[in-house]
Amino acid sequence: MRTVPPYTVLAGIYDYVMRHVPYEAWAVYVATVVERYMPEARRLLEFGCGTGSLAFSLEALGYEVWGADSSEAMLRVACKKADLRGSAIRWIEADVRGPVEQVADRNLDVVLMLHDGLNYLLDPAELEGAIRNMARLVRPGGLVIFDISTPENSRRNLHDFEEEVETADFRYRRRNDFDPQTRLHRTIFEVYLEGSWWREEHRERAYSQQEIDTILSRIPELEHLATWEEFTYRRPRRDAERLLYVMRRWGG
Ligand SMILES: C[S@@+](CC[C@H](N)C(=O)[O-])C[C@H]1O[C@@H](n2cnc3c(N)ncnc32)[C@H](O)[C@@H]1O
Repeated sequence: MRTVPPYTVLAGIYDYVMRHVPYEAWAVYVATVVERYMPEARRLLEFGCGTGSLAFSLEALGYEVWGADSSEAMLRVACKKADLRGSAIRWIEADVRGPVEQVADRNLDVVLMLHDGLNYLLDPAELEGAIRNMARLVRPGGLVIFDISTPENSRRNLHDFEEEVETADFRYRRRNDFDPQTRLHRTIFEVYLEGSWWREEHRERAYSQQEIDTILSRIPELEHLATWEEFTYRRPRRDAERLLYVMRRWGG
């Protein structure tokens, strides 16, 4: 079995693996949040856009959308889907920690990263750098919105989780484990596709609300507007599984 980097072979089956995710409802939630704090917002960049499912739903709600991801294979799937739909989204291969020249002069109203993208940053210093970078990319007065999966989510839903799936076109096995000490969460995908077995090892770090708040307190260029349990407008309970952060770059 050949080991490849995360989101290489998985790109080919990702939409199947995520078939339960209600992206349209997520987009409505994002739009409601944006409407609340910046009703005039139109231009939005989604980091970690993957195969584009959320980005398409945001475009359908009227936003001008850029989709950025560090995985070329995921973006290739997104591009194919965009051709079929006649979508105008511009796709950019880019890391959330680095510059994105393609949008340097675009006056983005919103920069967004949802669905665990930031959990792939294993070191809090890297996460801080990524949030600072998102703040640099959005225009003064614009919004930075991201979510975080917490240790509670890993402990409750993902620890020791295993599944094995077979369809007419592929097979895959998925195994998760979580170390509460290091907060590292590992997912192994073994995928049988086009006559071969492939293996990907995904490593994520769960972050608590306190850790994120500490990081945000070191980024004075962002005003902290809200932290909610994701998909609600509720302050997070102690056992919240996913947190949504809404920040505004000062100025504008
Ligand atoms: C769980 S997937 C979510 C994809 C998509 N947002 C969705 O909801 O279907 C995480 C995505 O984040 C991307 N990603 C991980 N680390 C990244 C980084 N440092 N910069 C940009 N994208 C990253 C991965 O390539 C992957 O497409």
